[in-house]
Amino acid sequence: MAKSPGGKNTSGRGQRDLKVKVKTARGRKLSSTRWLQRQLNDPYVKRAQADGYRGRAAYKILELDDKYRFLVPGARVVDLGCAPGGWLQVAVKRVNALGEKSGKAIGTVLGVDLQEVEPVAGSEAHVLDFMAVDADQQVKDWLGGKADVVMSDMAAASSGHKQTDHLRIISLCEAAAYFAFDVLDEGGTFVAKVLAGGAEGDLQKLLKQKFTKVANVKPPASRSDSSEKFVVATGYRG
Ligand SMILES: C[S@@+](CC[C@H](N)C(=O)[O-])C[C@H]1O[C@@H](n2cnc3c(N)ncnc32)[C@H](O)[C@@H]1O
Repeated sequence: MAKSPGGKNTSGRGQRDLKVKVKTARGRKLSSTRWLQRQLNDPYVKRAQADGYRGRAAYKILELDDKYRFLVPGARVVDLGCAPGGWLQVAVKRVNALGEKSGKAIGTVLGVDLQEVEPVAGSEAHVLDFMAVDADQQVKDWLGGKADVVMSDMAAASSGHKQTDHLRIISLCEAAAYFAFDVLDEGGTFVAKVLAGGAEGDLQKLLKQKFTKVANVKPPASRSDSSEKFVVATGYRG
């Protein structure tokens, strides 16, 4: 299991003493000050900087993979909503996309996003709305066939209206699941960000029909004050 940096207190002083406090500044909103303070005090943010990851999100997929082992050498991976590229960095290493683990199969990592992604060595990234017509076929063409893993950390842009955002996230996740049904090879894995209760109602039922196992998990790197969870569905029945 990727070691959680959360519980460490190296100096023996109370955690409150170690906190960086951010002063409010003219022109900066209170919500921005709070965000900045949280970033500066987040052990995963510090660790991501030290480990060279593009964001703390990398630890979510590391922790999920430590538990479920779907990013194996030789695997063909599709990352939906891959910007800025933290999950791509993790996948490249774990599936041996650069051939660094000698004697092990070499994997393939392909990401798509609405935004441009700074290239990650060992992966290919394309600007694509995965909901566009024929996006699934386009991805299979780029990949040269079907995938072993379809993973999604996608988040819909916030509207500021809680219920609307809730529905948007659910529909994004459902659309990602249907995309996975078209792109996954038999035995494949689907990993996606969902909400508090895990994959809800109909989606949960559908995933149980299509996969041999479905788990709803909150990895330690997922902030406790966020309602996100992840669904990990393994053994795609095809
Ligand atoms: C939280 S970020 C992903 C972070 C990424 N896992 C990482 O480790 O760097 C979510 C991404 O989903 C993308 N996204 C949202 N809707 C999308 C869509 N319909 N098609 C492709 N990407 C989408 C957003 O542009 C955003 O970059």
